[in-house]
Amino acid sequence: MRIDILTVVPELLESPLNHSILQRAKDKGLVEIHVHNIRDWSEDKHKRVDDYAFSKGAGMVMSIAPIDKAITELKSQREYDEVIFLTPDARQFVQRDANQLSLKKNLIMLCGHYKGIDQRVRDHLVTLEISIGDYVLTGGELAAAIVTDAIVRLIPGVLSDETSALTDSFQDGLLTPPVYTRPADYNGWKVPEVLLSGNDKLVDDWKQEQAYQRTKAIRPDLLDK
Ligand code: ADE
Repeated sequence: MRIDILTVVPELLESPLNHSILQRAKDKGLVEIHVHNIRDWSEDKHKRVDDYAFSKGAGMVMSIAPIDKAITELKSQREYDEVIFLTPDARQFVQRDANQLSLKKNLIMLCGHYKGIDQRVRDHLVTLEISIGDYVLTGGELAAAIVTDAIVRLIPGVLSDETSALTDSFQDGLLTPPVYTRPADYNGWKVPEVLLSGNDKLVDDWKQEQAYQRTKAIRPDLLDK
């Protein structure tokens, strides 16, 4: 898979994408992530990529030209499955979206900034809009990092069998059960007896019940689905 991220603040994406599991996935050749500065496509002498809104009081708006040029150049090099725009005024990203996007080959992610983006970008260039939640960030960069992380970890070979994404919260519509490690007794705080029993069937039943109880307590809306 290849992901191209378009931003005006590439520095914001350096750390989240260059460590740990994502870095290893890149090293193994399972994913290529390219971060591009939209200013590189600006023809303005000050490399500006925004301008005043036609409607008064709306603040600065990201211009269409540099974004169109960036996307056109990328599309001339390969075919893209989606051009994703990260924005709070979109449908909320859920695990099902991550599953679907992890099957794609090439993705462009466009990070918004300032007060908004020229609507023609959304109407004519973007194919999918994603919000990561009902709150407003300073820009789409952290959202792009989150969506990238959620997608890349699902690519076969990225996670080991032990940390397999199949056992994630949400994959079966339930939160994950609690986990414990040694010592079995820490200053009187004990690991549940059943986990020390060595009986796989009992442990599986316990995990299932815990997952259900946890979901019922914390996210009952998931059970309704
Ligand atoms: N940009 C700003 N806020 C955002 C959000 N909640 N989701 C995606 N992109 C955003």
